[in-house]
Amino acid sequence: MDLSSFTDQWQMQRQQLFKAVPPEGRTVRYLDKEFWVYPETFWPFADSLPLIRNFRVDAGEHVLDVGTGSGVIGIFACYQGAGRVVGVDINPAAVRSATHNAALHGFSDTMQVMQSDLFEALGDQQFDVITANLPFRNKPAPDVVAMSQWDTGFKTNTRFFEGVGRHLRPGGRIYFVQSNFGEIGTMQQLAEAAGLKVTELAREATDDSRRQEFFVFEMARA
Ligand SMILES: C[S@@+](CC[C@H](N)C(=O)[O-])C[C@H]1O[C@@H](n2cnc3c(N)ncnc32)[C@H](O)[C@@H]1O
Repeated sequence: MDLSSFTDQWQMQRQQLFKAVPPEGRTVRYLDKEFWVYPETFWPFADSLPLIRNFRVDAGEHVLDVGTGSGVIGIFACYQGAGRVVGVDINPAAVRSATHNAALHGFSDTMQVMQSDLFEALGDQQFDVITANLPFRNKPAPDVVAMSQWDTGFKTNTRFFEGVGRHLRPGGRIYFVQSNFGEIGTMQQLAEAAGLKVTELAREATDDSRRQEFFVFEMARA
């Protein structure tokens, strides 16, 4: 089976898993911590590991986590000492899960979660650090759960790079996740067209076959 068909099947199974969570939610263990997920929320997974293990947040910095899902990246930013974290997600279930997790980890005062299509709810707010683990693949998404993995026409990724500069403070940095089964080339073109310099910071495979690899890129104004 080629990588694309294998990935289709695997991602559809994961979407079923996200939908099958009981209404009261359940725990997912990740990096020795517990996260709560309500139905239809993307679970913390290996894709965010290279980012979480390698990103830098200096004490007091303001962080925006775009496509926050369970809130996992924002919560690790809080553990690093962020002064303020805003998590945004288009999926109301994700907003509920991330809000719950911010409280569970004791960061309700630091981390705020908002339902927002990318930057829509942010006005002119700017951040020192912007993190994003958006859907990697250009593939039609029929519902909000599929939208956690597939980006119809790659429009969300395109709009991210068109809008991100407005929310990045001078001297700020972006940490952006992609995969070997995603659109790394297109991501790079979009970032460069937005005036960003792109550097691969880290990569991790899920196993020794290296069939699935996840990357984090650091980006700053060129
Ligand atoms: C791959 S998941 C990542 C979730 C979480 N950040 C993590 O690392 O586990 C992508 C997330 O992006 C969200 N998303 C997709 N399109 C979006 C948009 N236009 N605006 C905001 N969030 C979006 C999805 O709902 C999903 O929660």
